[in-house]
Amino acid sequence: MSEIIVKSAKEEDLDQIINLQQTNLKRNVNLEKRKKDGYVTLETSEDVLQDMIKNELVIGAYENDKLVAYLICLEKARLDVNLDALTELQKISKQIKINGKQLNDTKYCALESICIDKEYRSKGILPKLYEYASKQLGPKYDYAIGFIDQKNPRSYHSHVEKLGFLTIGTFDDSINKATWNIVAKPLRAIG
Ligand SMILES: CC(C)(COP(=O)(O)OP(=O)(O)OC[C@H]1O[C@@H](n2cnc3c(N)ncnc32)[C@H](O)[C@@H]1OP(=O)(O)O)[C@@H](O)C(=O)NCCC(=O)NCCS
Repeated sequence: MSEIIVKSAKEEDLDQIINLQQTNLKRNVNLEKRKKDGYVTLETSEDVLQDMIKNELVIGAYENDKLVAYLICLEKARLDVNLDALTELQKISKQIKINGKQLNDTKYCALESICIDKEYRSKGILPKLYEYASKQLGPKYDYAIGFIDQKNPRSYHSHVEKLGFLTIGTFDDSINKATWNIVAKPLRAIG
């Protein structure tokens, strides 16, 4: 593996991001592989993705020009992009507490989707993505909030047991037929 560079994604990376997301979408991964390798549930539309890229909310990891991983962040002001999990988060943010404070009273951004190409997993790219996110979003936000399907133990292990995200709540999502663990990490401490 050559050097991996992490930086904000550009509009020309759109197809590579969509391809990586599509390859790892729940509906495109069989049950056995889902349990072992993980998967993403939320599908980001091209329009939303373009908007996120313009606002430097999509972080890519690259080997030469090849995109090998992405992290898509969402700002609180943009949580109305018709993603059920995020709409739900807004509703329940008044009941969830983090470090003794109501989530609703903190400045937080949401992690909409994260994916690493299969060939590049277990190579330390995940902390690099969060390190960059921390630099980019840390000055504006206190917490990064993520959602991990309870049927994705690999992602839970990486985020909670290895990177120290806290589990701050759960909710049942009837639309995506999933129970989500809501996880959070102070942004300035990531990385
Ligand atoms: C989840 C993901 C981002 C993690 O990145 P990664 O590079 O694989 O992460 P890590 O380097 O932490 O390696 C995986 C860890 O999980 C462990 N692991 C692997 N399969 C596992 C499983 N089925 N259950 C529990 N833990 C598992 C590995 O042993 C390793 O932990 P260790 O270093 O303590 O041995 C990546 O696997 C991925 O993109 N998966 C597909 C999409 C996805 O699930 N996205 C997250 C949506 S919330």
